[in-house]
Parts: sequence; structure tokens; C-alpha cells
Amino acid sequence: MSLSGKVALVTGGSRGIGFATAKVLLENGAKVAITGKDQKRLEKLAEISNVFAITADIRNSNEVKNAVQKIVEKFGRLDILVNNAGVFPRIKQLHEIEEDEWNEVLDVNLTGQYRVTKEAIPHLQKTSGSIINISSDAGLKAYQGFNADAYSATKAALIILTKCWALEYSKNKIRVNCICPGVVDTDMTKPFVKTQKDRDFMNAEHPLGRIGKPEEVAKAVLYFASDDALWITGAILAVDGGESTK
Ligand SMILES: NC(=O)c1ccc[n+]([C@@H]2O[C@H](COP(=O)([O-])OP(=O)(O)OC[C@H]3O[C@@H](n4cnc5c(N)ncnc54)[C@H](OP(=O)(O)O)[C@@H]3O)[C@@H](O)[C@H]2O)c1
Repeated sequence: MSLSGKVALVTGGSRGIGFATAKVLLENGAKVAITGKDQKRLEKLAEISNVFAITADIRNSNEVKNAVQKIVEKFGRLDILVNNAGVFPRIKQLHEIEEDEWNEVLDVNLTGQYRVTKEAIPHLQKTSGSIINISSDAGLKAYQGFNADAYSATKAALIILTKCWALEYSKNKIRVNCICPGVVDTDMTKPFVKTQKDRDFMNAEHPLGRIGKPEEVAKAVLYFASDDALWITGAILAVDGGESTK
């Protein structure tokens, strides 16, 4: 199996794209730790699967530090970091967004990725590991009526940070790549596909005629994490049914 002997951390691995990623990495031989905020959900997942589940809010540096320490104590190493945890704000135009709502999105989607990556880097330096950042099509281009500016800003930031980190840590042979999904069927997007009419609209927005499945993003993560991508760093891959190409 391609990830045999490797240890992965998937933040926000308790649901959606993160959970699908944890499953795919496990199926390919990795030992996988997942984090999230909801302790009960994490405990349940640990009971029914082989994941090592840790409650850690990425808004809290101490919880992040503790989570990375626990993983290294348990498995002795860290090879793969998937910066996946994220939140989506209420749809509002810029002039309607309160400062605390703005800051909340930045705290999770941007500073949260900094906190986790900072703790992981010393361990990834030892293993010449790999980081996969989950950005979004919303970080690649602006969409009329999207009205989630804080989200778009964090996802665009993650794209440039992918390139910065790729260059900064190339000396340690740490590879840093980024995936930009289109709309994927998860809890995050449920409010936007409530009715069949919404779903038809969302499907039609994607040139391949449908929204994505979490597993389809997970398989791209697997590729970047595997030795098949050993000469790839700083890459930004749209996994979006052609959406960002329009
Ligand atoms: N779904 C899409 O269409 C789509 C498209 C483009 C990009 N993305 C990106 O893909 C990633 C995953 O999205 P998803 O759709 O799978 O989302 P989701 O179903 O809403 O799941 C989000 C995950 O992130 C965790 N999380 C949220 N805030 C956290 C925090 N402060 N600390 C730790 N964990 C936290 C959640 O854990 P708890 O439940 O415990 O809070 C959950 O496991 C996100 O970065 C998102 O922006 C999604």
C-alpha cells in the first residue's frame, strides 16, 4: 500500500471531506489521526474505525500543540498533514459583515492553518513529509453573488501560503500542495442544496454536470501524499468538475 508506515493528521477529519480523506489514507496503509471540536462525534468515529481521534480546536494554540504531541507520542512520527478544517460564514455582502464574524472566519480558516502547520513542521522536517492544504475554488476566482468575502480571502491566502511554504521548506524536502474543490456534497454545503431546484442549479454550475463527492477530493489528497507525487510541490489543483475553468 502506498502509504504504509506513514502517519497522517487530518484536521477537521470528523466529517465531510476530512472524514473521506481519513478513510482513503487508512485504506492505503497510513496510520491516521483526526481532529475536530465535537468530542462525542470523534469518540464515536474512534469506536467504529481505526482513526486516532483527538479533540482540538484549531483556534486554540495549546489544543493544537497537545494534539500534535499526542500523535507523535502514539505513532513516533508525522509524515502527512492535511489542513482541512474550515468554516463557511453566513452569506452577507461586505458592508453587512460584523468585525467579529470576519475575524472568526480568519481565525479558523487562516490562522488555524498557521497554528497547526507551525506545530507540525518540526516533525515533518524529520520525515521529509508532505502538507496538503484544502483551499477552494473561491480562492481562485471571484463569483458573482457568492458574498462570503472572509472565506474567499482565507482560501486565496492558503493558495499563496502553499507556494511560500513549498519554497521555505523545500530544503527539508517537505512538499506542500493545495487542492481547490468546487461545491462538494457535505454538511457545509447542505444549506445551498436544500431543494431539488437548488441542487439542479448547483449541478449545472459545474461543467461536468454535478457537484462533487468528498471521496473525489480525498483521492487527490492521496495522490499528493503518496510517493507518486515526490517531484510535486507548490502545486494548486482544482478538483471541481471544471467549475473554476469557466
Ligand atoms: N464542501 C465544499 O463544497 C467545499 C468546497 C471547497 C472547499 N471546501 C473546504 O474543505 C474543507 C472541509 O469542508 P467540508 O465541506 O468537509 O466541511 P464540513 O462538512 O463542515 O466539516 C468541517 C470539519 O472541520 C472541523 N472544524 C471546523 N471548525 C473547526 C475548528 N475551529 N477546529 C477544529 N476543527 C474544526 C469540523 O469539526 P467539528 O464538527 O467538530 O466542528 C469538521 O470536521 C474546508 O476547509 C472547506 O472550506 C469545502
